Amino acid sequence: MEANPSLLDTVGVGDLVLLDPLSEESLLQNLKERFQHQEIYTYIGNVVISVNPYAPLPIYSPQVVEEYRNCNFFAVKPHIYAIADDAYRSLRDGDRDQCVLITGESGAGKTEASKQVMSYVAAVCGKGEQVNQVKEQLLKSNPVLEAFGNAKTIRNDNSSRFGKYMDVEFDFKGEPLGGVITNYLLEKSRVVRPVRGERNFHIFYQLLAGGSDQLLRELKLERDCKRYGYLGREDPRLPGVDDAANFRAIQAAMRVIGFSAAEERALLEVTAVVLKLGNVQLGGQFQASGMESCGLQDTRAVQEICQLIGLEDSVLERALCFRTVEAKREKVVTALSIAQGCYGRDALAKNIYGRLFDWLVNRINQSIKVNSSEQKKVMGVLDIYGFEIFKDNSFEQFVINYCNEKLQQGFILLTLKEEQEEYVREGIQWTPVDFFDNSIICNLIEDSARGFLALLDEECLRPGPVTDQTVLAKLNQRFAQHEHYESRETQSARRIMDASLPSTCFRIHHYAGKVTYNVSEFVEKNNDLLFRDLSQAMWKAQHPLLRSLFPEGDPQKASLRRPPTAGSQFKASVTTLMKNLYAKNPNYIRCIKPNDNKVPGEFTDVLVQMQVRYLGLLENVRVRRAGYAYRQAYDPCLQRYKMLCKQTWPHWKGGARAGVEALLASLPVPPTELAYGHTKIFIRTPRTLFDLEDRRRQRISELAALIQAAYRGWRCRTQYQLMRKSQIVISAWFRGHAQKNRYVQMKRSALLIQAYARGWKSRRLLRELKHDRRCHQASATISAYWKGYKSRRLLRELKQERRCHQASATISAYWKGYKSRRLLRELKQERRCHQASATISAYWKGYKTRKEYKKYFRSGASIRLANFIYRRLLQKFFVGLRTGLPPLAVSDRSWPAAPYKFLANTNEELKKIFYCWKCKKYRDQLTPQRKAQLQDKLCASELFKGKKTLYAKSIQQPFQGEYLGLQKNPKYKALQAAAKGKLVLADTVQKVNRANGKMVPRLLLLTKEHVILADPKAAQPKTVVSLSDIRSVSVTRFSDGFFVLHLSEISTVGTKGDFLLVSDHLIELVTKLHQTMLESTAKALDLKVADEFSTQLNKSSVAIRVVETTKKEGAAPVCKKKGSQRMEVLVH
Ligand SMILES: Nc1ncnc2c1ncn2[C@@H]1O[C@H](COP(=O)(O)OP(=O)(O)O)[C@@H](O)[C@H]1O
Ligand SMILES: [Mg+2]
Repeated sequence: MEANPSLLDTVGVGDLVLLDPLSEESLLQNLKERFQHQEIYTYIGNVVISVNPYAPLPIYSPQVVEEYRNCNFFAVKPHIYAIADDAYRSLRDGDRDQCVLITGESGAGKTEASKQVMSYVAAVCGKGEQVNQVKEQLLKSNPVLEAFGNAKTIRNDNSSRFGKYMDVEFDFKGEPLGGVITNYLLEKSRVVRPVRGERNFHIFYQLLAGGSDQLLRELKLERDCKRYGYLGREDPRLPGVDDAANFRAIQAAMRVIGFSAAEERALLEVTAVVLKLGNVQLGGQFQASGMESCGLQDTRAVQEICQLIGLEDSVLERALCFRTVEAKREKVVTALSIAQGCYGRDALAKNIYGRLFDWLVNRINQSIKVNSSEQKKVMGVLDIYGFEIFKDNSFEQFVINYCNEKLQQGFILLTLKEEQEEYVREGIQWTPVDFFDNSIICNLIEDSARGFLALLDEECLRPGPVTDQTVLAKLNQRFAQHEHYESRETQSARRIMDASLPSTCFRIHHYAGKVTYNVSEFVEKNNDLLFRDLSQAMWKAQHPLLRSLFPEGDPQKASLRRPPTAGSQFKASVTTLMKNLYAKNPNYIRCIKPNDNKVPGEFTDVLVQMQVRYLGLLENVRVRRAGYAYRQAYDPCLQRYKMLCKQTWPHWKGGARAGVEALLASLPVPPTELAYGHTKIFIRTPRTLFDLEDRRRQRISELAALIQAAYRGWRCRTQYQLMRKSQIVISAWFRGHAQKNRYVQMKRSALLIQAYARGWKSRRLLRELKHDRRCHQASATISAYWKGYKSRRLLRELKQERRCHQASATISAYWKGYKSRRLLRELKQERRCHQASATISAYWKGYKTRKEYKKYFRSGASIRLANFIYRRLLQKFFVGLRTGLPPLAVSDRSWPAAPYKFLANTNEELKKIFYCWKCKKYRDQLTPQRKAQLQDKLCASELFKGKKTLYAKSIQQPFQGEYLGLQKNPKYKALQAAAKGKLVLADTVQKVNRANGKMVPRLLLLTKEHVILADPKAAQPKTVVSLSDIRSVSVTRFSDGFFVLHLSEISTVGTKGDFLLVSDHLIELVTKLHQTMLESTAKALDLKVADEFSTQLNKSSVAIRVVETTKKEGAAPVCKKKGSQRMEVLVH
């Protein structure tokens, strides 16, 4: 096996696996040699053996922490930090929950080792404000728990009197999130029983030494420890320990953990109560019955306690001195004896303290517990009380040693038994190594049917008198044949004489030695009973913390069921613990105590030899040497290391085992280092494993570098491309901008040049133009002058010419005039001559003709001729008329004009005659009805034409007379009868109510004698007016149907007054009325067309005024009464 320089360079060998020759002596010698050179840590593979130096060593500094951080386990000196680092890294990188198991005798350095592990992990596991707070809380929980749970024993000045298992929880990055502390059975008997050379729990001394005067006053405590019964009479001081400073430290620690001031205060108050209970003196007093019972010697302590916890003195006093027993549902109060009283008091103190300790652990857990639900990795650190052999061992030592027995069993199981079994199972060649299996002792104690604890429970629950002696008798009986159990009785049975074993004791051969236990108090401690009166009294206290510690004191919740015994509780919690530990990857720290005197440098061979033996270190080395340090199933192994070989990276196609073989074959690993099991690969030395891990780490960093390089390359490339693109954009923009600027500049310059050039050109042009203009003006002037000159000359010439012309014209005119006048004179002369000659010839011809024809003509022929011509003309005129007569339509009044003037009168006369004749012809062809109709219409026109606007509209409407259909409608029978044969007109009219102007419909019948008004519903004549009674009728000028029927005052109906009516056929109605009246009375109707008229209403006269409104066409007139004498009719 290749030796590691770091393990060889030191004193002796760092790893006992390398020891040669291997024997108990050489092993011891190696440990001793190393111890003497202050090399307290030695390995057996990855198990650390730590020998307590009893002196501070300079190997726990931050520099050393840095040295071991991420170290190669075998490249550095053996150290507890190396195993802590390995465990932490396996947890963080290997994703496996870890536990650190620290075992050893009391005082071997377990608690110190656990603190070192914790502080190392805290130092390396990430930083940050929150992480640091969690770390602080986790670390500070230790001094607080130590103050309440540790005490000075003969073996150890800071002995843990409780078991502690702390799970520290980490997130996936390996940063601590929090933790959970589990505590195991506190040795509470220590509270009430001071032992010589030992101390009670540290907190009492610390409180008294470190509490401020005021605090002590408030807690009603005195600084002197000797005043407290539970603290013993010895000098409490410990060399090198400052209780006062420690008290201040735990106060600070509590604050860091998160205790409120009130919680801290309550905790100390309850602690003070426990101390004071020790001062409650119970003495004898005689009762009335003559029986001696216990009573308070001095009430001060009880008073002070009651003031502290808010309870009436009498309640506590009674609970301390009396006991209520329930028998057959009856409560009987019995006085306690002094011994019972003291027992009750001590039980109360123990219970308060024990429960307070549990509360403390829970409170710390509340602060450090992890709330997040994310997946957690867990590292458990177990620091349990070590194996103990005192002079007088009691129930506590028994359970402590049982616990150690179980841990040893775990160790054996994992490192010796299972490992060997696994080699066989996996088909690895193996020579078995013998070792002592302590299962038999574990069974002796814990077997659920026949074990010690089961028997003890049985006894405790058994009715009848149970004493420690009866228990011992039972034990002797049950374990008579057990080779690990001994007592006086079994000894005598085996004929062994042993004076060292008293009759009240039994002995158990533990893996770590024989321990003699005194059976006394086993029953009592296992029962762990507290009188119900006391728990009820505590529950009655006002103090919230104390009260919460005794929930069973609540009478409502009082249960008669016995609580589980201390032994069975402990057994259950140890079983849970073991299950928990088996679920994790174990890391062992085996502590060895070099001497019993707690002095540095002393190495008691025998003592160490014994520990080496019972710890099975030699067997451990042997198995380790022959065996393999590391094993793993093929698949995870391949997954973990596949990057080390090109064949297996990144993917291996074949089976896992073939993959692992190919992988390891490609690496320079000596074949002796490896063994291929059925399902697992075995690696012999940790060095190979660490070598593999180193390679893996290196390879991973290479791969990471590769990925990084690729990523960086990609990032740089994209960055570059982006930059390039940006640069192109920028330069394009810049160029554009520059060109734009240049262009603007050029444009400006060009404009300037252009302006100059244009200016210059313009000026030149202007000059030229000016010159031209001047030339032009000059030439114009010259030409003007020239033209003027020429014009004037021409004018002169023209004037001359005109003058000549005029002169010639005048002359010619005169000449022509002269000639014309002469010609005219000649012509006149000629015509006159000509006329004279013609007249003379006519007269001559006439004379000749007359003379010639005289003989042919009678006298008067010329008149006859003239008449003939006249008649011919008339004839022609009439014949022409006959053919061109105008149409016969009556409305056509056209007539041709007269062709000769002398016919004008005749023509006019003819026109009239023709028109009359046309009319006559039209009249002749009319039927009598039509004639009558036209006569009606004619009558209407005579009455209304030009007087009432309505007339024009009525021309087109024929007069129907009967509008009601009297003949057809049987309803009108009565009316029909009334007008029989005489009916002229029947129509519906609106009658205006003379009182208010409202209108009501009425039927109006005009007969040849009467006007009848009837109600349309009843159809019976209502008012009959004789035609002769009608004085007159008034109508308006407008196109409405309103009319007033004025009646003569003497008529029968006339007394009521005139009728105001509205008719749709007013023109017809009035015309008919007129005609009928004319017919029957030979009197014409007096019709008035006016805008204002007066009527007689009820013998008074009412003035009616007609007002034309712009209401829409066709609407009926509206009558409005204006006072009693006036009425307005709104028409349109
Ligand atoms: N590594 C160490 N360096 C220095 N002193 C130690 C070391 N380990 C233990 N001790 C001393 O031994 C005493 C007992 O150790 P402790 O851890 O309390 O024992 P255990 O818990 O095993 O009973 C400690 O108080 C301390 O003085
Ligand atoms: Mg300890």
